[in-house]
Amino acid sequence: MKIAIGSDHVGFELKGKVIEHLKEKGIEVKDFGTNSTERTDYPIYGEAVANAVASKEYDKGILICGTGVGISLAANKVNGIRAVVCSEPYSALLSRQHNDTNILAFGARVVGLDLALMIVDAWLSGVYEGGRHARRVQMIADIEEKQKNK
Ligand code: RB5
Repeated sequence: MKIAIGSDHVGFELKGKVIEHLKEKGIEVKDFGTNSTERTDYPIYGEAVANAVASKEYDKGILICGTGVGISLAANKVNGIRAVVCSEPYSALLSRQHNDTNILAFGARVVGLDLALMIVDAWLSGVYEGGRHARRVQMIADIEEKQKNK
């Protein structure tokens, strides 16, 4: 499993702890920045991680900003990305099982370290169930196709 991870300045410190946690679990992680707490713009990292996942170079992505909102909005603009913002583990798990999310986002101003790691673990443990959900996930992809042809 290869994970691409990114954050803005607000998520920088929490990102370091999440990276440690992933490495302890034996997961390969590539950090797409930012590399300090110097103020920067979350779309840069949302786009970089989303491209890394959409290209299939990485299996999944994790994004952190202040709320998880802006960085997930940016990621969701990349074709093939289904990014979810979570502040609790239940939605994180269900987003994998039902929506086949390929990027998890959360907010460093919203969740503390322990909760963030619970969310990450729940999300990583979720296996996409397909079946009745596959038609709906395909409908999301169809929206992307319709946008391309506008
Ligand atoms: C930066 O101040 C903040 O706006 C950003 O981290 C994020 O919360 C945006 O959605």
